[in-house]
This record gives sequence, structure tokens and C-alpha cells, in this order.
Amino acid sequence: MQGIESVVIRPARNILGSLRVPGDKSISHRYAMLAALAPGRSRFENYSPGADCNSTLSCVRALGCNVEHDEKRAVVIDGLGPQLHAPTVPLDCGNSGSTMRMLSGIVAAQPFTSQLIGDESLSRRPMKRVMEPLRKMGAEITATEDHAPLRITGTRLRGIEYAVPVASAQVKTCLLFAGLLADGKTTVEEPTRTRDHGELALRAFGAEVSRSRNAVTIVGGQALHPLDAFIPGDSSSAAFFLCAAAIFRESNLVIDGVLLNPTRSALLDVLAAMGCRINMMRVEEHHGELVGTIGMVSAASKPAEISGALTALLIDELPVLAAIAPYTAGIVVRDAGELRVKESDRLSAVTRNLKAMGAEVEQTADGWKIPGGQKLRGAEIESFGDHRIAMAFAIAALRAEGDTLIRNSACVAISYPDFFTDLEKVLER
Ligand code: S3P
Repeated sequence: MQGIESVVIRPARNILGSLRVPGDKSISHRYAMLAALAPGRSRFENYSPGADCNSTLSCVRALGCNVEHDEKRAVVIDGLGPQLHAPTVPLDCGNSGSTMRMLSGIVAAQPFTSQLIGDESLSRRPMKRVMEPLRKMGAEITATEDHAPLRITGTRLRGIEYAVPVASAQVKTCLLFAGLLADGKTTVEEPTRTRDHGELALRAFGAEVSRSRNAVTIVGGQALHPLDAFIPGDSSSAAFFLCAAAIFRESNLVIDGVLLNPTRSALLDVLAAMGCRINMMRVEEHHGELVGTIGMVSAASKPAEISGALTALLIDELPVLAAIAPYTAGIVVRDAGELRVKESDRLSAVTRNLKAMGAEVEQTADGWKIPGGQKLRGAEIESFGDHRIAMAFAIAALRAEGDTLIRNSACVAISYPDFFTDLEKVLER
């Protein structure tokens, strides 16, 4: 997402206080898409206010569903059932890889042709990972060298057994959504476990989904019912504040109503292993998702090594972990090649910005080696239009010497429009 705005982040003395973060992006996308396929009215409180989840709502509207906000600002979707209406405009996924990949699984099963388009960043991201299995299920898909725009001619899909080559929850969910609408059984096997919101959301809407080790199976033709739900706070948004608290010795932070799904909370384990003291309180389950309050005091004092299955579970939190690494006892990240194909090349974006702040950092083929105990200086940071890069370096800026300018900072609106205002609330200067 491009924008000309910049913000200046001044150093802080401490992180103190409590806050809530906006509704989870991954869950919001999935609930909105399944609501379209569930005949009747679904309603979601605390739906993500980010531009990405709004792109999903626009697409759902373009596929014939009524979508509104009610008087309590909840999102209301009138679902049509398994058969949607042919869109008269291209389905604009904006900056959102989740929208394009997961929606592909739904439109591939519709008796019409859809065109899926995205912004410049999304049009560079790999789509072969969904095109290949959807073609095996019977869909006809054309693209520009495996990138958007995608033209998908839907059909009666047939279930498949498919081993996903890269760990990707978006691909898994795309195939489960396609599998729901297909004839027969679809089994998706993932190389390592990824976030399971697709499975949990399908169950919340009434479908049966089974898991055996790393394979998830759905039988096609199941009917969904609508859902009324409160969407938990986004754990990847909470990560920025937790990492901020991790670099101040006297920090004391409370985050209420946040998602604690084990496939999304690996950051808590990493920070705890690094020496932060973390508590979870008032844990409840809502539609299969764990929600609760996180309390955190003290700073990280031990080094961390992140690789393999853990890297996949932390994929969205790695930019901010790397951005704070110089202030900790050091962090090594491996097996994170996927970071190159996110909203920006996050591997290089982090390296470049850390270097601009005077940090010593070694970028490897699939990660970084970042020594701890470093002092950074305020600098000019480039967000590359990537929300998570802008927010990660706003956190790194809090312990730098001097002010930091984050260029093109408006992109935080992709997942967290009020990020800078919320950050100010927990800063002590
Ligand atoms: C997401 C999965 C991850 C993640 C993205 C959201 C999801 O992407 O980076 O922000 O909601 O399924 P991949 O599936 O490409 O790993």
C-alpha cells in the first residue's frame, strides 16, 4: 500500500499500561468468506478494521451478498449458500494475499468466471501455490506468469489428496474451502503445522473437518449455518506491543481480549524462553478459538534461535522480533525464506532498516544472525509499503538514540489503522 505519510517516533523510557488490539485479521477473512456460503445472516463484532479485511468484504459484496455495519459497528453479512452470484466487476483483493488465495478456493467452485486483481505488491506475489491444486480439482485458471490478475473459471470440483509443498495456512484454507464445495473428500497435508483458523472456522459454521497428524480432511457438500461471533484481538498486532515490552527492563503491559490460539501464540513461548515474565489470565474458548488476557513484565535477557516448524508458526512476528533483536541477547532466525514473498521482501527490508539504524546484522539465505547488546540510532526507515515493516521499526525506534522517521507509514492501515495512537497510550517518556 503506497502513501506519502511519514511519522516520527521519539525514544521512550518504558512501556506501561493496558490495551486491546483490533480483531484478528486471519479469523475475520475466514468468517466473512464462510458467511457468504452460509444461507442467512451472520454477524461479527470486532471484525478487523484493516484495509485487508475490508477487501474481503468488498469481494463478498461483489459476489452478491449484502454486507453492512449495524448500530454496534458489527459486520453483518447475508449469506447466499454454496452458490454465489457472478460478479460484474473484478474481485479487487487490494494488498491482501489472504483474500486472493482463500477466495480462489471458493470462486473455483462457482458456475461462472471471476477475475481476481490486486495492487502492485499483491500482483508480484506467488499464486502458483493455489493455482496448481485448484487445477487438479478441475478449475480453469489463467494468470500472468503465476501472478495476479487471476482469471478463474469455476466448475464442479472434485476432491483431491494434496501435499502442500510450502507451509502456508492460506493455501490449506483455500483447499479446504474448495473441498467444502467439491464432490467427494479433500485431504490437505502440510509440511509443518500452520495456523488452524480455517479448520476452526469451518467447524464454527457447522462443517465437519478431521485432522490426523499434519493432514486435514473435509467431505464436500456439507451445509453451513450462519454464525454470530465476537472476533478476538489479533495476536500478530499484539506482538508489536509485547516486543516493545520485551526491550524495557521495567515494563508492565496488559493486553485484554487477545487471541491465544496455540498456532498463533508461539511468540509468547519465545519471549518467555528469552526471560520475559508472561501470564495468561481469564482464558476462554469462543467458537474453538482461545481468547484471554496477556500480562507481561520485564525484558528479554537470553538469546533465541528460531528455525523449522517454529519459524512457520512465527512467520508474521519475525520482522518485529528481528527489529528488537539488537537490544536483546541476540536472535538467530533460519528457514524463513517465505519472508521474501510477503507484502515486501521482509528479509531484505528488515536488514536494510536495521543497518540504517547502525545495527550489525548478517542476512543469510533464509534468515538473519543478529547479535545482541547493541545500541541503535534513530534513522530514516522505509516501510516499503508493508504494514508489518512500518510497525516493527516503530518499536525498534523506541530504544534508539534520537528520533526515527518512518516513511510511507500510512500502510499500517492494512491491518491496524490506529496503531500509532494505541502505541502512544502505553509509552512512558
Ligand atoms: C495467513 C497465513 C500466513 C500469514 C498471513 C496470514 C492466514 O501466510 O503470513 O499474514 O491468515 O492464513 P502464508 O499462508 O503465506 O504463510
